[in-house]
Amino acid sequence: MKTSQFRHHFSVPKHADGSEKIYFCGNSLGLMPTEAREAVEKELNRWADLGVDGHFHGNPEWLGYHRILEPTLARLAGAKPVEICAMGTLTTNLHLGMISFYRPEGKRKKILMEQGSFPSDRYAVVSQLELHGFDPEQDLIELTPDEYGLIDDDRVVETIQAHAEELALVLWPGVQYSSGQYFDLGRICLASREAGIPIGLDLAHAIGNVPLELHEWAPDFAVWCSYKYLNAGPGAVAGFFVAERHACFDGPRLAGWWGHDESSRFVMEPDFKPATGAEGWQISGAPIFNLAALAGSLQVYEQAAIASLQEAETDLTASLIEQLDSDNGPVHVVTPTDPARRGCQVSMRLRSGRSQGRALFERLSEAGVVGDWREPDIIRIAPTPMYNTQNEVDRVADMIKRWA
Ligand SMILES: Cc1ncc(COP(=O)(O)O)c(C=O)c1O
Repeated sequence: MKTSQFRHHFSVPKHADGSEKIYFCGNSLGLMPTEAREAVEKELNRWADLGVDGHFHGNPEWLGYHRILEPTLARLAGAKPVEICAMGTLTTNLHLGMISFYRPEGKRKKILMEQGSFPSDRYAVVSQLELHGFDPEQDLIELTPDEYGLIDDDRVVETIQAHAEELALVLWPGVQYSSGQYFDLGRICLASREAGIPIGLDLAHAIGNVPLELHEWAPDFAVWCSYKYLNAGPGAVAGFFVAERHACFDGPRLAGWWGHDESSRFVMEPDFKPATGAEGWQISGAPIFNLAALAGSLQVYEQAAIASLQEAETDLTASLIEQLDSDNGPVHVVTPTDPARRGCQVSMRLRSGRSQGRALFERLSEAGVVGDWREPDIIRIAPTPMYNTQNEVDRVADMIKRWA
């Protein structure tokens, strides 16, 4: 099965002359599937027809709407339905996870993350440390990448073990946003659990892109966004995972009425009784149009019957790497070439330096190639098999070889 047979489901941005751009930016904002528009329009119509009754009437009723997403989301996350919930936004969910699972005590108060993490993650971590009255200079451990911008899985495990006595949380990415490196999350979660350290995962660049087995890996919590490979649109509703062992969590959390047990939510009791599993971390009434866009977009995943783009038959990324990566060539591919250590994103820099890299990026943009630039010197190109084609990969590889 070639997933690019699903390309016709997506709206591809166009040049002024009506020809399609070469869109390699699904790692930032995935394209709009027709199904997302239809699903949102359906809920707008139901709002027009039913008003407030939409909460309790129609199919699906808005109360519990998020549950129609569960089977597909659970498959993509490799999780049980009780462990996941489509809710909130990524950074907010990260805070919710940290409020519950970052519980510093005595010497155990530090947080480990990767140096060069997505800034929002670092802001969130630093603010959590400060909330507890700690000094990020002392209490944040950031593991530095090697000279090529990668972090070996062995080093992650060794660092966890070396700092076991002082760590209160590990926060790790599934796929690193800048390098495109996919970590051995099973090993990292196991090392953390064996050392008795709670672990949270940021799966922004992993969900839909690489295979995930969250139930088996059992991090304490995980978060993701849905606007990249899940194609649910800008600001889309995000995802939250808590391991099954925390389904009846009685530790601290930031509570809101939507996390209250659904059967008695509308009894309006003063005391909070959390819903079982990840749903218990919801705070506000569900964003129905947002959930609808995700529900529509996930229909494409249902039809493609894949859990990750890596399962797609055509490895467009391998082809792009093969055409660009050579020891003596102008391009240094940062992303690991081994398919087990990457998803579909290729991060590259020019050996000749930042300004040439920037000039190449601008030339590509002018030619209608939509990739992105990440400071200080990385060009990211993400061929997503759901809608990109071999022809597009060949064309961009050719442009880069000619202009680099
Ligand atoms: C790795 C990573 N973490 C966090 C974020 C921030 O996400 P949000 O703005 O949805 O909170 C992003 C956004 O692209 C990201 O790539």
